[in-house]
Amino acid sequence: MKHFLGLTDVSAEELTHLLEDAARLKADAQRGSRPPLLAGRVLGMIFEKPSLRTRASFEAAMAHLGGASIFLSASDGPIGQRESVADFARTLSHYVDTVVLRTFKHSTIEEFARHASVPVINGLSELCHPCQVLGDLLTIQEHFEGGIRGKTLVFVGDGNNVARSLALGCGKLGARFILSAPEGYRFDAGFAQRFQRVCPKAELIQDGIPSQAVSQADILYTDVWTSMGQESESEQRRAQFAPFQVNAQLLAQAPSHARVMHCLPAHRGEEITGEVMDGPRSIVFEQAGNRMHAQKALLKRLMA
Ligand code: CP
Ligand code: NVA
Repeated sequence: MKHFLGLTDVSAEELTHLLEDAARLKADAQRGSRPPLLAGRVLGMIFEKPSLRTRASFEAAMAHLGGASIFLSASDGPIGQRESVADFARTLSHYVDTVVLRTFKHSTIEEFARHASVPVINGLSELCHPCQVLGDLLTIQEHFEGGIRGKTLVFVGDGNNVARSLALGCGKLGARFILSAPEGYRFDAGFAQRFQRVCPKAELIQDGIPSQAVSQADILYTDVWTSMGQESESEQRRAQFAPFQVNAQLLAQAPSHARVMHCLPAHRGEEITGEVMDGPRSIVFEQAGNRMHAQKALLKRLMA
């Protein structure tokens, strides 16, 4: 793995090793041990969109591992405006050992990676959110005896960046993925083909009836209906997604052992009710915490 632009950059074996290492690093951290595995290393972070979890978890991870990070936001000028993306990438590569980018267009991350001489990590684009899914897979491995293989994750909501990465992550690790989304918000044919190519043994199931889909769920996952960059569509989306809210009534249709996940930030009262998010079946804050442990393993793999 040279870069981590999407789940397609890691084999199932590499993904399994990353998650095992993440679990070890988490156990170390919980014992109070923070070995300086990345002493002297620097992580560059370029974010065109806001972030709490991704930014803070990467910065904390670098601090725990004895390294440092440099954060550049849109206030430093959108990427590619003051100078070309290529010149930016070639320059920054002299100062840092790895770069995380969060951009509006996935093509910006790809262009950056083509010109950078250091590893590049996708910290979210409109296409996918692979770092999120590393933490999610770690969370699922921890929560279910026997791990993720054979489990069913039902994603209720928009077939967006998080959903695409989750589908690939589940497919690679032998879990079933079901997308329950209104028409017009499901995976397109291009993604379905990519999924089939990357996970030839897995089935990509799409189902427009949420109660039917969640009846099979070990994990019920949701995300915002309007992602960053789609704000002009939010009113229309609120109307179309209303029947897809994760609320107590929908959760009652799921098996009693099913757990609820959300990548956060959540819009309480829209895609998920506060009652479900704060309820006993929600594991959303453990999930958020695991972002840091999973990313430590990724940083170690790319930088150490
Ligand atoms: N889940 C996630 O990526 O959160 P942030 O947008 O706060 O980084
Ligand atoms: N789908 C959301 C995820 C935020 C972490 C977005 O792209 O805004």
